[in-house]
Amino acid sequence: MEFVRLDGERLTLVFALEVGGGADLVYLGARLPEGEDLGTLAASGARGRHESQPDVPPVPGLLPEGKAGWSGTPAVRLSERREDSCVQCATDFRLSAWEQYLTELTLTFVDDLLGVDIEHRWWIGASGMVCTEASITNGGGRKLVLDRFSALALPVPRRFTHLTSFTGRWAGEMREHTRPIAPEGFARTSVAGKPGFAGGNWLILEDPASGEVLGAHLAWSGDHDTRIDPDMVGSADGRAVLQMGASWDGGEVDLEHDVSYRTPVAMFALAPDRSTLAQVFHAHARAILPHRDAWAPRKVHLNSWEALGFNLSEEGLMRLADDAAALGIERFVLDDGWFGGRRNDQTSLGDWFVSPDIFPNGLGPLIAHVKSLGMDFGLWVEPEMVSPESDFYRQHRSGALHARDRERPTMRGQLVLHLAHPAVSDAVFRQIDALLREYDIAYLKWDHNRDLFPAKARVGSVRNSQTEGFYDLLDRLRAAHPKVEIESCASGGGRIDYGVLSRVHRVWPSDNNDAIERLRIIPAWSQFLPLEVLGSHVSPSPNPITGRRLAMDFRAKVAVFGHMGVEADPARMTDKERACLAAHIALYKEWRGVLHAGALHRLDHPDPDVTGMMVTHGDKALALVAQTAFSPVFDAAPVRLAGLDPEARYRVTLPEPWPPRARHYLAVPERWRDGLVLSGTALMGQGLALPLTHPETAWLIALEKLS
Ligand code: DGJ
Repeated sequence: MEFVRLDGERLTLVFALEVGGGADLVYLGARLPEGEDLGTLAASGARGRHESQPDVPPVPGLLPEGKAGWSGTPAVRLSERREDSCVQCATDFRLSAWEQYLTELTLTFVDDLLGVDIEHRWWIGASGMVCTEASITNGGGRKLVLDRFSALALPVPRRFTHLTSFTGRWAGEMREHTRPIAPEGFARTSVAGKPGFAGGNWLILEDPASGEVLGAHLAWSGDHDTRIDPDMVGSADGRAVLQMGASWDGGEVDLEHDVSYRTPVAMFALAPDRSTLAQVFHAHARAILPHRDAWAPRKVHLNSWEALGFNLSEEGLMRLADDAAALGIERFVLDDGWFGGRRNDQTSLGDWFVSPDIFPNGLGPLIAHVKSLGMDFGLWVEPEMVSPESDFYRQHRSGALHARDRERPTMRGQLVLHLAHPAVSDAVFRQIDALLREYDIAYLKWDHNRDLFPAKARVGSVRNSQTEGFYDLLDRLRAAHPKVEIESCASGGGRIDYGVLSRVHRVWPSDNNDAIERLRIIPAWSQFLPLEVLGSHVSPSPNPITGRRLAMDFRAKVAVFGHMGVEADPARMTDKERACLAAHIALYKEWRGVLHAGALHRLDHPDPDVTGMMVTHGDKALALVAQTAFSPVFDAAPVRLAGLDPEARYRVTLPEPWPPRARHYLAVPERWRDGLVLSGTALMGQGLALPLTHPETAWLIALEKLS
């Protein structure tokens, strides 16, 4: 047995490797001192055999298999195609070699009988994120099929006894649920051909005694399989195993002779608390985001969807652009409805030419107008889809996913194109490429409003290859138009993951722009994603989805914490509302350098209806504190800030405009205008007592470090 350690700045992983046997992770925790005796460390965590175990107790390790009696789900499952059937193979992978290079470890496993080898790579990124990926190659002569293959199999240290997972639906993404890991384990798979609104590709394990957390994610924009198998039969040491991988239909991934399959990247991070965990994820996101520097700062959007819907005319859009520019908007985004005969959501997807009914002279005049107002121009597309009611479909019926001789069920009146088919992908590429060549388009909102059912084409199941086809199309368009920024939207937050995030500029967290809902949705996403990638728009009041009416001051303050935009028609606002919105857009511009580069801290508050977030960066910090319901007590508890230097002194101000109803309750408004000077210790220990009595009240708190 050999022991190998990988060290990040703050953590260490210790692997126990036995060439000819297995590979295991025997330590995962805070960085160990140099010289730690790794063999002794492994022995201290090992457990003896009990009476009812196989004679050689199974160790699931980093490549769990059922071969030695482990009862959990194997990380790799292979079948062999025979005449008319597929027979599951008994596998026996043994570690054949390992290689370490700095913070990277490559493990090679071989099943000699099958002639199949697996390469597993573990590495620690500069952010402190631990990443893994695996590939499997059939070098033998059998006709194999890959039924499952995990990107990560992580023996979970026993101190992590609690689990936070997420559920959700359209317009209600990422609802958090925390509880002890159930004795029967945990399993989540998706079948929609995308991660979905319910966030099964993200989870957080927690040690409730210390607050330490482990956040894990699969960077894949297709279906996932996430599971935790507890130690049901009593494996060697009683640890549960967390697995993450892509999932697909049976028989779909062929592993014929010399064919390989590579998993997406799975990742996890360790942190002493949830805020630090978020910071590790954000650092990782910032490292993988494409061309980030070239695109900063994040421009304020105005999106036509909740302003005009399908009620588009060139004149109306020109007027909307005028009103947008007057507010300080920097990018004008034309959403759905501009192409083919698309006057509602039942038609024309696939016909990506500018509708002559709306734009008799093409998009040129509108774009020229937008640019003359100092804004750039963005356009909505949904390239993976096709409406049966479209010229494209009439010409390429076989290009849509369908099960042979079966009905073609639609969703939102649309079908999905078979993107893994080069001819289909080429046809879509040509249309979008032509638009990007002809027009000065700075940004695409790339939507995806349908689940993949049936995920079938002539070749059989395409659940896996469809996602690869999506990546290929996106990558080709990005290569041809590297300056165009792209947003990943799937009816809101249906396709958000680090796979797509390495290819796009921002994501659309939810179709629900109601500020109260966003106060739950943004903190949930920002657990894993930095604010600069989270589209955050001011919605109309009443909100078109919830019907809620909210004051502009509240809507605008909430929208500042993200990549800010407006999704409402300024012509339907009062003068006061427009002035209030313009003031917050100016505040966003002043603070985005902090919000989009700094460290995010979650602010805890005893009142569950108070949400607090804060970003610190260099000598500056900005916090958002929002009360949604009527406070149960007249004096809400002070808000304790976070992430400050305890010894330093800070000037604290409340950027104006102040929330109209609450401002009267500020004890000494002039002092807040001049700024209070307080130490980090006082601000984090005692906090600030702000008037948070009324429902729907939000404050921004600005801090500047003085010494
Ligand atoms: C769903 C998106 O999430 C919305 O923002 C909007 O773009 C519509 N599609 C347009 O059809």
